[in-house]
Amino acid sequence: MTDITGKAAAAPGGAVAAMQGGGYYNRNSSLQAANLTSALPLLQDAARKLPLRAGHAITIADYGVSEGRNSMLPVGMAIDALRARMSTDTPISVAHIDLASNDFTSLFTLLGDDGASYLGGRENVFPFAVGRSHFGQVLPDESVDLGWSANAIHWMSANPVLVADHGWAIFSKSSEARDQVEALLAQDWRNFLQARARELRRGGRLVCQFMGQGADRHGFEYIADAFWASVEDIAGQGLINEGEVLAMTTSSSGRSQEQIRAPFEDGSLDGLALLDMATVEAPDPIHAAFLEDRDAQKFGRTWAGVMRAANGPSFALGIAAGQDKDAIIGAIHDRLAQRLADDPQPAKSHNVLLTVEKV
Ligand SMILES: C[S@@+](CC[C@H](N)C(=O)[O-])C[C@H]1O[C@@H](n2cnc3c(N)ncnc32)[C@H](O)[C@@H]1O
Repeated sequence: MTDITGKAAAAPGGAVAAMQGGGYYNRNSSLQAANLTSALPLLQDAARKLPLRAGHAITIADYGVSEGRNSMLPVGMAIDALRARMSTDTPISVAHIDLASNDFTSLFTLLGDDGASYLGGRENVFPFAVGRSHFGQVLPDESVDLGWSANAIHWMSANPVLVADHGWAIFSKSSEARDQVEALLAQDWRNFLQARARELRRGGRLVCQFMGQGADRHGFEYIADAFWASVEDIAGQGLINEGEVLAMTTSSSGRSQEQIRAPFEDGSLDGLALLDMATVEAPDPIHAAFLEDRDAQKFGRTWAGVMRAANGPSFALGIAAGQDKDAIIGAIHDRLAQRLADDPQPAKSHNVLLTVEKV
């Protein structure tokens, strides 16, 4: 069983956990792979339109890489679109950015050994990693040609608030708590863009896909509610206490279109223009597979794996020291798998797709 590594405290304002390591995220991120697919044409378009400067190396930045499996296709496509316009004499660097606690070993093992690596068959390409938060500047001024971020920016810089009635504070009954989430989402978005405004070269482009909000509902309620009900189930069995239930939280939430547009409209961004933006219904490959094979147990297990990979380490931060965190997260996983198998439904969440240009 893979260890769950969570080093920071799960208090509001505390650091957030990376995805579950040891290759677990790579094996349990088919949902995220499906999510980013709709942003690939934007990335190819950005690579085709990038102003090229003779004799200058190219830098691609991948914000929120995790263990990297889902970066292989987009980065490979971006390199191919650029190579169609320039020879292999021009070096291409690829900066993979994530939190310091991220499992970068899995990323570099994949890059070196796996048939899916974008290094395969592509020359003069140099990957490197940055273990720092992308809500601040992580690369030098005007050094990035093409930015990419998939399934990452809806993770906030901290836990804005702890609520006893849900693991995702955006689903709390407390409007004050929900407002705190919205305020941090807005601040993080502004910080993310201001940092990219410094890093991007003039004419450089950034393509992002992340969780959005629908017009009349947030989205993802079915899965998040089932996860939280599973936490409450194990609390009912006495595996965790009231204080742990309160501390069990994860710092992700979708953004509204209004919130995304705000920094572009209030003059707080130096030289960044929003070229395209859409909020689209997210694909649900897990439910689509269920409609084909009618295997409810597989449906439950797949979703539980996806949720554990992305959220297990965050929830584990709330479990008291001395407890067997892996066993408790495993119990939530098993409960969730059964709960979802008992009532298979589509997830109904939303994806934001956007392109930004440094003008
Ligand atoms: C769901 S994973 C997405 C991984 C991959 N891009 C994909 O599409 O499958 C989100 C990633 O964002 C990272 N992340 C969260 N907050 C971050 C931050 N402030 N700075 C850099 N990376 C962050 C997480 O550690 C995690 O690896």
